[in-house]
Amino acid sequence: MDILIRENYEQMSKSAAEIIASCVRSKPNCVLGLATGGTPIGTYQELIRMHREDGLDFSQVKTFNLDEYLGCGIELDKPYNMDQSYARFMYEELFRHINIKKENIHIPDGKTKDPREFCKRYEEEIKKAGGVDLQLLGLGADGHWGFNEPGSSLGSRTSLVALTAQTLDDNYEAFYKNANIERSQMPHFAITMGIGTILDARSILMIVNGSKKADTVAKCLEGPVTSQITSSAIQLHSGDITVVLDEPAASKLLHADHYRHVEKMKLQYGL
Ligand code: PGA
Repeated sequence: MDILIRENYEQMSKSAAEIIASCVRSKPNCVLGLATGGTPIGTYQELIRMHREDGLDFSQVKTFNLDEYLGCGIELDKPYNMDQSYARFMYEELFRHINIKKENIHIPDGKTKDPREFCKRYEEEIKKAGGVDLQLLGLGADGHWGFNEPGSSLGSRTSLVALTAQTLDDNYEAFYKNANIERSQMPHFAITMGIGTILDARSILMIVNGSKKADTVAKCLEGPVTSQITSSAIQLHSGDITVVLDEPAASKLLHADHYRHVEKMKLQYGL
């Protein structure tokens, strides 16, 4: 596991975007797993810049998003109003600015009539695409990945889940309040890739910023593997793992100096 500590959010975002871009350059038809939330916005902005200024080409890239609120969703590039769906988020923050093909974008369908059947199909689609090459992840304040809240099985697959009060509060502050939607009107369920689904990705890239998540970061990376912090399953992943943190998010790590040392040595030895 490579743990990279960057000075601030901007540097964290640049490092993360560089890792995604190098995946796209080395395998133009790669499959990316994507995340929503405040954390990846800077990474997406940097990818958009690379697309515009350096010609980073997404024309063959396929994407699978982690999660979606039940009852939410838009048809990409069709008119929409106050929808707070993750589909809208992705369209606004990334997809409409790059040359990705609409048919290559996959986001759980929050408006499906049969969520359980949909979840099975989503798993099959990921397999059919050849599996996820690089999965981008944020970290929830309660340690979740996607919407895998404390207590979710570490082997879980894509499924319909209930959201915790903390996640509802966090996401209300971040997204719903601005849209003048009452907290009580927020969806309480979501479709999410499972922890088992996420661990199938060949590489994992987790990004976290801010001192508010410092305790959770330490539990996730240095604490015991537990379903109470579902992202602690990162310690079980068998492929490449890169974690990019800003200084405040890394401030509670016991071995931060060691992680800095490893990065320096790897650079020095060209590894
Ligand atoms: P955030 O959410 O990026 O908005 O903090 C992260 C998450 O819940 O995974």
